[in-house]
Amino acid sequence: MAESRENWGSKIGLILAMAGNAVGLGNFWRFPYVAASNGGGAFMIPYFFALIVIGIPIMLVEWSIGRYGGKHGHGTLGPMMYLQAKKAMKPKKAIIVGALCGMIAFGVTILVNSYYNHIIGWSLGFAVSSLTGGYTGDPTGFFANYIQDPKNLVFWVLALIFLAVAVMKGIQKGIESWAKIMMPVLYVFGIILGVRALTLGSPVDPDWSSLAGLNFIWNPDFSQLSWQSAIAAAGQIFFTLSLGMGIIHNYASYLQPDEDIITASVATISLNEFAEVILGGTAVIPIAYAFLGPEGIKGSIGLAFMALPNVFSTMTGGGIFGAMWFFLLFFAGITSAIAMYNYLVALLEEDAGIERKKGAWIVFIGYLIVGAPIALESILTKSANLVYFTEVDNWIGNYILIVLGLIEIIVIGWCVRDSALEEMNRGGLWKVPKWFFRLFHQFLTPVTIITFLVFFTRDYWLAGNFKIVPSYIAEIPEFAIWVNLGRVVVFGVLLIGFIQSYKSIRSKYRAEIDANKELAK
Ligand code: PFF
Repeated sequence: MAESRENWGSKIGLILAMAGNAVGLGNFWRFPYVAASNGGGAFMIPYFFALIVIGIPIMLVEWSIGRYGGKHGHGTLGPMMYLQAKKAMKPKKAIIVGALCGMIAFGVTILVNSYYNHIIGWSLGFAVSSLTGGYTGDPTGFFANYIQDPKNLVFWVLALIFLAVAVMKGIQKGIESWAKIMMPVLYVFGIILGVRALTLGSPVDPDWSSLAGLNFIWNPDFSQLSWQSAIAAAGQIFFTLSLGMGIIHNYASYLQPDEDIITASVATISLNEFAEVILGGTAVIPIAYAFLGPEGIKGSIGLAFMALPNVFSTMTGGGIFGAMWFFLLFFAGITSAIAMYNYLVALLEEDAGIERKKGAWIVFIGYLIVGAPIALESILTKSANLVYFTEVDNWIGNYILIVLGLIEIIVIGWCVRDSALEEMNRGGLWKVPKWFFRLFHQFLTPVTIITFLVFFTRDYWLAGNFKIVPSYIAEIPEFAIWVNLGRVVVFGVLLIGFIQSYKSIRSKYRAEIDANKELAK
């Protein structure tokens, strides 16, 4: 049964939903610590380079693949990429390309959300604690205790129920209506926090002011430039713009066939970058810098959940600002996670004929299962190491997105070529010029991604990420079991994803794939 395809209700709803998809925990939780631990200002140089050379061209590609796929009744990436690849190669090769892309999107939407939903739950829990003064006693230790206490999983389950109910209502009444409420509130909270950050002065050390924090992020120290920061920047661009995940395509599949995707892509990117660079950059980094100084700011997962509660507990009016910060994270997380949730519900609708309401509950149970190891690790080992989370994120949240981006740009830029440009430009108020397509889609973007991927792989190798006991847990080798559990799950989900996508494409296009086999005989 084909999915009964809805459309977006209004232009503003579409833009806010897409912005909601892109603006997420990546902007406020991930960006500050990735930027701070990769050289601050020096990180911003490859960051803007990657935004222009990778972010903009791939965003355009994903919108157009999605709109085209939607026109043919598809909301998932396998069949969408099959349709593209088929323009340039035999169906029996195209099905492999489609199945590989579908596999990655399947893996990402299941596994990124397996930990992401937990961060949304933590945000809600921490928002409540800000208002009730929960973390005032020991703000830094609060996080570790929080994730070891099974009672707190209630916030995770609440977040999942929220997502299920919202997705069940469909595109216009669910996703679009929530984006219209949550996105404006998120921007208002971000602006208030940004203003508060800049008026902080130097509460702890005269050398650490919020303005010095701005300097740290905006004044590059060129000696800090490295391949490692460039790779981190490219990874951040993929993550923050939701590229290489299948969820931009899925939202674009609910467009009308001639709707302007150029303006919409530019709007999505602009809203995302405003949230990330201006709000994430000025709200979080200067606050953290003013209280923690240049070294303290280089936290990891902890920056948002350990360092900032510490700050809020000493700041005047910290309870309110803390609540605002964690609600901001919560809204940002929900409006993104809803996109992955919807992807899987669309997949069940399209490939198994399961109606939306039932699908939403199946996905709910699925997320409880795949999210369980994250919770279990902290509860059973009484630690806050989160190595299962780290391992899954290393491969699925960082690495594989770039692989999908590469396949897409090669298919569009090198295989489909000029007709892909025509498709992209259809209905556009502005058009992507031919020279831009030649320079970016056909040359700079693929070449840059290939280069990054080579260095990325080398870096992971050198960092000891391929070892049975990866180097990042060298001091806690007994945690190798959680790392390897993560690897088994990643591998297993990808394998299922490949088979699922292959079958999905084959069941829809059996006639032409088989006809082609006949010819080949
Ligand atoms: N662009 C999103 C972000 O920055 O958080 C990426 C994302 C992650 C979307 C996880 C959806 C999701 F469930």
